[in-house]
Amino acid sequence: MKKGDAGMKIFEERRSIRRYGDRPVEDEKLEAVLEAARLAPSWANMQCWTYIVIRDQSVKEAVASTLKNNPIQKAVVAAPVLIVACADPEKSGNANGQPYYMLDIGISFQQLVLEAWNQGLGTCWVGWMNEDEIRSILGVPENIRIVALTPLGYPAVYPDFPGRKPISEIVRYDRWNQGA
Ligand SMILES: Cc1cc2nc3c(=O)[nH]c(=O)nc-3n(C[C@H](O)[C@H](O)[C@H](O)COP(=O)(O)O)c2cc1C
Repeated sequence: MKKGDAGMKIFEERRSIRRYGDRPVEDEKLEAVLEAARLAPSWANMQCWTYIVIRDQSVKEAVASTLKNNPIQKAVVAAPVLIVACADPEKSGNANGQPYYMLDIGISFQQLVLEAWNQGLGTCWVGWMNEDEIRSILGVPENIRIVALTPLGYPAVYPDFPGRKPISEIVRYDRWNQGA
C-alpha cells in the first residue's frame, strides 16, 4: 500500500477530534466500535482490558472537570459518549522490565479509534489525566489502571494534518548504525 491507496485512507485521514456536534451516537455504531476493541490481539490472549462507556452527562462532566488545562476538556463535555480504557496489569505479561498491559490496551484502544473513524465518528486519545481523581469518580478498583479515555461523537471540525516525521528519519535498515 502506498499514499492514496484505498487501504491507506483511514491512516491518512484519521485525526484527533477536539470539537464535536451534539448528534447522538447510534447504538449499532457504538457496538461496532467496542467490537473492534474486543477483537484486538493481546499477551497470551489474556485481554486485560475493560471499557467504561459513559453517556450520563453528569458523570461526563465530573470526569471533564478533572482534565484541567487539557485541550480536550470541553470536548469531553460536548461529545455524547465518553469511553474510558482500563487495564488489569495482572492479566498481561512482563518481559525485559516492560509491562505489556500498556501495549495490549493500546492496540485494543487504537482498533476502537480506527473503527470509530470508519463509522464516521471522531475520537481523541487522552493520556494526560489525573488517574486517581477519575478512579474515585468512576469507582475503579485500585488494582486496575486507567490508561486512556476518549470522547466519541460526530466531528464538528476536521483539523489539518499535524504532520509526521519522514520514513528516512524513523527507519533504519539491517542495523542501528546503517552501513557501519
Ligand atoms: C497515548 C496518547 C495520549 C494522548 N493524550 C492526549 C491528551 O491528553 N490530550 C489531547 O488533547 N490529545 C492527546 N493525544 C492526541 C495527540 O496529541 C495526537 O494524536 C497527535 O497530536 C497527532 O494528531 P492526530 O491524532 O490528529 O494525528 C494523545 C495521543 C496519544 C497516542
